[in-house]
Amino acid sequence: MSRAVTIAVPKGRVLKALTPVLARLGIDAKEVLGEGDDRRLIREVPSVGWRFILLKPDDVPTYVEYGAADLGVCGRDVLLERGFDLYQPVDLGIGRCRMVVAMPSSTATLPDPPRIATKYPRIAAAHFAKRGVQAEVVFVQGSVELAPLTGLADAIVDLVETGETLRQNNLEVREVVAEISSVLVANRAAFKLLGSRARDVVAAFTPR
Ligand code: PRP
Repeated sequence: MSRAVTIAVPKGRVLKALTPVLARLGIDAKEVLGEGDDRRLIREVPSVGWRFILLKPDDVPTYVEYGAADLGVCGRDVLLERGFDLYQPVDLGIGRCRMVVAMPSSTATLPDPPRIATKYPRIAAAHFAKRGVQAEVVFVQGSVELAPLTGLADAIVDLVETGETLRQNNLEVREVVAEISSVLVANRAAFKLLGSRARDVVAAFTPR
């Protein structure tokens, strides 16, 4: 019996969005999503010879890069920020959002140099550098929208999905940095080694 194909998936919203993929494969979503207070971090699906490992989104590409997982589901934001070079066979079309520069509606122009708060310091610095602006980038972990409201920063680089968080905090989008979605990533060596078994995973995850 060959070993299970290991697929790294983020806990939370994106994991739930995989329900149709699992249904297509005849897998009961509960086997992977769990029920109640299920804290198992490895979820075996013997019927298809796969196992899912549940991670924080930022750790998915790390596990795939080191070969601790064969494939994984992660956002383009994480790949861009951390410069991972992983095979990306499929855009899953889920977790769609935009990475933007946003600032208070009352701000006409940014000071030079601007101070930018973000969870994505590399992406932010590269974005402003492309425009010849040497931004001062301040790393924050979350609630990024708070930064311009409190004087921590002049603007933010962050993800926007519905735009509701920006609206309710009197901020507006001034530039789109990148379109983001979730992609399937694969360890290049594992992908070759697994052959048709890896291609089966890709086929199952390809949106139709
Ligand atoms: C994300 C993102 C924005 C918000 C955008 O934050 O950083 O704050 O969602 O969504 P919206 O456009 O639909 O309002 P998340 O919910 O992950 O929390 P965080 O502030 O802790 O990063």
